[in-house]
Amino acid sequence: MNNSGKIAIPKIELHVHFEGCIGPELMARMRAGEKISRPELDALYSFDNFPGFLKAYARVMAALEQPGDFREAAGFIAARLAARGVVYVEFTFTPLPHVRRGLEHGRVIEAVLAGLEDARAAGAKLQAAFIYDTVRQWGGEAAEQSARLAVADMKAGLPVVGFGVGGDELGCPATELQPAFEMAAAAGLKRYVHAGEVGGPQSVREAVEILGASRIGHGIAAAGDPELLAELARRGVCLDVCPTSNLFTRAVDSYEKNPWPAIAAAGVPVTIGSDDPGFFGAWLDEELERCAAAWQLDQAALRGLMVTAARHSFQPREKREELETIVAGI
Ligand code: ADE
Ligand code: ZN
Repeated sequence: MNNSGKIAIPKIELHVHFEGCIGPELMARMRAGEKISRPELDALYSFDNFPGFLKAYARVMAALEQPGDFREAAGFIAARLAARGVVYVEFTFTPLPHVRRGLEHGRVIEAVLAGLEDARAAGAKLQAAFIYDTVRQWGGEAAEQSARLAVADMKAGLPVVGFGVGGDELGCPATELQPAFEMAAAAGLKRYVHAGEVGGPQSVREAVEILGASRIGHGIAAAGDPELLAELARRGVCLDVCPTSNLFTRAVDSYEKNPWPAIAAAGVPVTIGSDDPGFFGAWLDEELERCAAAWQLDQAALRGLMVTAARHSFQPREKREELETIVAGI
C-alpha cells in the first residue's frame, strides 16, 4: 500500500492514538503477540460497544511489555502512516497506563522516538508530534501526574505539543481535571479533550469552558445544540471527527447519520481522523475514502479538510503555514 491509492494527497492526521494503531497485524509481530493463537488474537480485539472497546484497548496496551516493544510498534506505525501519505501526525499517547505497569516513562518515550527514527532511516517521510493524554476515569490526581510528564518532556525538548484526556468521557467531572489542564496550559501546551463522543453537548461545552480545549476529539454531540455550534465557531475550536470509530463504538449508526457535515456547515472547523486504526481497520487514507464515498467529497473538499488540519495543528504558526503549503498543493 502506498500513496498512489484513490486519496493520493498529502495528509495530516490530528486524531490518532499511538496505542490505537496496534492492530492484529502488528500485535502478531510483537513479543506478546507471538504467544497468542489466532482465536485469542480475535478475542483480544473483540468488543461491541464503547465500554467494551475501552476494555479491549487496555488489553492491547498491556502488550507493550518493554521499551523494545514501543520501538518496534513506533517503527511499524510510522512506516504505515507514511505509506498512506501522511506527512504530519499528532499522536495522542497515554503514558500513565505504562508507568502503572512498572515501565519507566523516560525509557518508553525514548524507545518510541527511536522507532520513529528507524522508520525515517528506512525512508518514511513523516513528521510527528505528541499529545500526552490522561485516562479520564482515573480522576484528577492521575491527570496531574500525566500533565507533569507532558510538561517535563516538552521542557526537555521532546516533540510534545499538547495535553489531553481520553477514556470514559462520563467517568470524571471536568472540574476535577481542571488543575491538570491549567498546569499544562501555563507551561505552553495546547489542550485536547475527548468530548461529545458518548456524552452530550454539555460535555463539549465543559471541555471548552472548564478545560480550555482548543481542539476536541469527536465533539459530534455538539450538532444538536445550535448555540454551542455558534460558540465553537466563534472561538475557532476544531473538532477532530472519526466516523469509522463512531460506527465501531456505536456512537453513530451509519456514516450517513454522522453529523460532521452539518457541524462544518455551521462554521466550526472540522478535521477527519482515524482514532484507532488498529481496532477499527481504517488508516487515514481509507477513512477519507469512506468519507468521500458517503458524502461525495471531491479532491478539493479532501484537500480542504487537510488545510483545516494544518491550520489547527498544535505547532507554532510558521510550522502550520509550512504544513498548509504542503497539503494545499501550492
Ligand atoms: N482512547 C482511544 N480511543 C478513544 C476513543 N474513541 N474515545 C475515548 N478514548 C479513547
Ligand atoms: Zn480518540
